[in-house]
Amino acid sequence: MNIVSEPAQVRAAVREWKANGLRVGFVPTMGYLHEGHGSLIRAACEQNDKVVVSIFVNPMQFGPGEDLESYPRDMERDSAYVEQLGADLIFHPQPETMYAEDFCTFVDMTGLTEGLCGKSRPVHFRGVCTIVTKLFHIVQPDRAYFGQKDAQQLAVIRRMVRDLDMDIEVVGCPIVREPDGLAKSSRNTYLSGPERQAALILSQTIRFGEQLVADGETDARELVRKMTEKIETEPLARVDYVEAVDGRMLQPTDRVKAPLLVAMAVYIGKTRLIDNFMIE
Ligand code: PAF
Repeated sequence: MNIVSEPAQVRAAVREWKANGLRVGFVPTMGYLHEGHGSLIRAACEQNDKVVVSIFVNPMQFGPGEDLESYPRDMERDSAYVEQLGADLIFHPQPETMYAEDFCTFVDMTGLTEGLCGKSRPVHFRGVCTIVTKLFHIVQPDRAYFGQKDAQQLAVIRRMVRDLDMDIEVVGCPIVREPDGLAKSSRNTYLSGPERQAALILSQTIRFGEQLVADGETDARELVRKMTEKIETEPLARVDYVEAVDGRMLQPTDRVKAPLLVAMAVYIGKTRLIDNFMIE
């Protein structure tokens, strides 16, 4: 497996693969890889002939005061993990390679990016759309893999690919959880012992919400109210949002009716964690 830092090196490898008729899968990441990323890389390796993984902590998707500086990084461990999973190439560029000093072109989306995480992270999706577009142009994959944990990001990428006629199949993969239910996230490393325990309130509330729906709750506002109340029983938790939105347009809805996305962001101490469930 090769690790390269220049777009031209990725292009050369992919050009050769494609000249030989090989299909290329792509897993964009910000590194500090865990089993969630592992499931994306495994799926990409199963469904494609060659797989590129990018590792780049993208400054553009962090707002002022967010955790860009402290975001965990461990290139040595990440590259060993990617190699063990069987991917072919890691693209690990420097920020100045991706963003020239006079960089001034952005990919921006209205609507889908404005609610949910977009409310408290107003510049986030512009940064995501811009970097993913750049990475897609560099890698030119046939398929790209994203996790369902970032449900809004997945919906935004699918829409961007459709709206901008990108010839790429976007594959969404299920949430991967710790044995006790906590959704895998690089940000889980920020949690102290008591916070790690408190963070279980997210997955417990997800299961509670799923049960309410299974028991026949049809009022989305009631569903959200009861889920919010449950999170508030945890003293270390502070709700950023709990929302039920229609699964396609991500607009708030009053009725529990498929396709529905029930998503939450919750601060545990200073760490903002997200989780969700879908009704398809
Ligand atoms: O999901 C992530 O890790 C990032 O948002 C992504 C898609 C790699 C873009 O930086």
